[in-house]
Amino acid sequence: MTRKVAVFGAGYIGLVTGACFAELGHAVVVRDIVPERIQMLRAGDVPIFEPGLGDMIARNQDRLSFTLDADEAVAEAEVVYVCVDTPPMPSGDADLSRVFAVIEALKGASHLTAVVVKSTVPVGTGERVRAALDAAGLEHVGYASNPEFTAEGKAVGDFMHPDRVVVGVWEDATAKLITELHEGVDGPVLVMDVASAEMTKLGANAALATKISLTNELATVCEATGADIEQVARAIGMDPRIGSHFMKAGLGYGGSCFPKDSRALRALATNSGHPFQLLTAVIEVNDLQSRRHIQRLKAELGGLRDRTVALLGMTFKPGTDDMREAPSTIIASRLLAEGATVRCWDPLAEPGAIEPWTSVSRHATPLEAVSGADAALIVTEWPELAGVSWGQARTVMRRPLIFDGRNLLDPQTMKGLGFTYMSVGRPT
Ligand code: UGA
Repeated sequence: MTRKVAVFGAGYIGLVTGACFAELGHAVVVRDIVPERIQMLRAGDVPIFEPGLGDMIARNQDRLSFTLDADEAVAEAEVVYVCVDTPPMPSGDADLSRVFAVIEALKGASHLTAVVVKSTVPVGTGERVRAALDAAGLEHVGYASNPEFTAEGKAVGDFMHPDRVVVGVWEDATAKLITELHEGVDGPVLVMDVASAEMTKLGANAALATKISLTNELATVCEATGADIEQVARAIGMDPRIGSHFMKAGLGYGGSCFPKDSRALRALATNSGHPFQLLTAVIEVNDLQSRRHIQRLKAELGGLRDRTVALLGMTFKPGTDDMREAPSTIIASRLLAEGATVRCWDPLAEPGAIEPWTSVSRHATPLEAVSGADAALIVTEWPELAGVSWGQARTVMRRPLIFDGRNLLDPQTMKGLGFTYMSVGRPT
């Protein structure tokens, strides 16, 4: 059965959710508070880079509209999806003010059957939203937590073909409604209580972040003992109890989710009187990861003052333009603070995220970026970097040093080209 859905928030999650629900046949209104964003969407442009999203929005335009007006969004809505951001406050706790602003805006909603929170929130938020709904005279409206598990760059596929759809509810009727809303989605729906759904989201990201920090710690021990993390991680991951995903050593995890969510879960645990020691270690390992490798680079270069370093890849992972909490930002700041000159290349990074660093020059190609550099540091494993003519790169660099922070290139090939080649957790 098709439903009228209002999605609050036209960021990564809101846009993907809105477009996918329209694809499933529902009538969707997406509301955001940023006028330029809504103007762009109305003009047929997508303000974020997400493969497949633009096409999906275009082919569902009859069922998908965009508005700045909250009243217009909720006027007909049967289901409201809350997909606003919940940024961390200095304490690490999530700032829920935007979530509650949406609830405030629902007072006049006369067709509303359910409010669903998709934003990542601390456990216990559902109870607070329920109380706010009751206070707003919306006691009859159901509530669900429906966290998202989509990764940027493949969010549309993750939504339509998920490992699982998690639906946290207090009433069967709301579970039935949200399950029906997902008809056509190719994945199992798991119905549970609200607190468990909220915890599943934070727990899943904590598990993935833990796997990455474990791999990075193993890589450090590999470096010290002459073992090769690539071989070790491959062999470990072949045990299905462990699994091979998220065992790629590198310069640490970044992005809008893992750093924020792991800190939020740690804050939640501390506030509940149970300091989460393992997660604290996972976060510390990640915070140290890029710093430790800059130290290795510094030692190899005999200091960073007056050295030129080319950063290859700036986004927090390939396949996105997103620079939020990207390791490159920590690395660039550190290099500049130590007196190095920083050049960079990235095929997609949002210009706005690099421009404020007037001292970091951006170049159109990796070859141009490494020209005159004392070291090339691969920060993001863009596939383009594997195709660079490294032989040519060597001739334009001041010093033939590559620090491959994502273990993208083949050590023997690079050494054969005359490079000093350093990487993460592999013998030098
Ligand atoms: C992550 C999760 O993968 C999604 O399941 C989740 O829904 C999402 O967060 C979210 O909470 O919204 P995302 O942040 O888009 O998705 O990116 P990932 O592909 O998970 O990568 C995160 C970071 O981990 C990147 O910096 C990546 O380079 C790093 N990473 C990943 C590694 O260093 N090693 C790995 O083996 C895998």
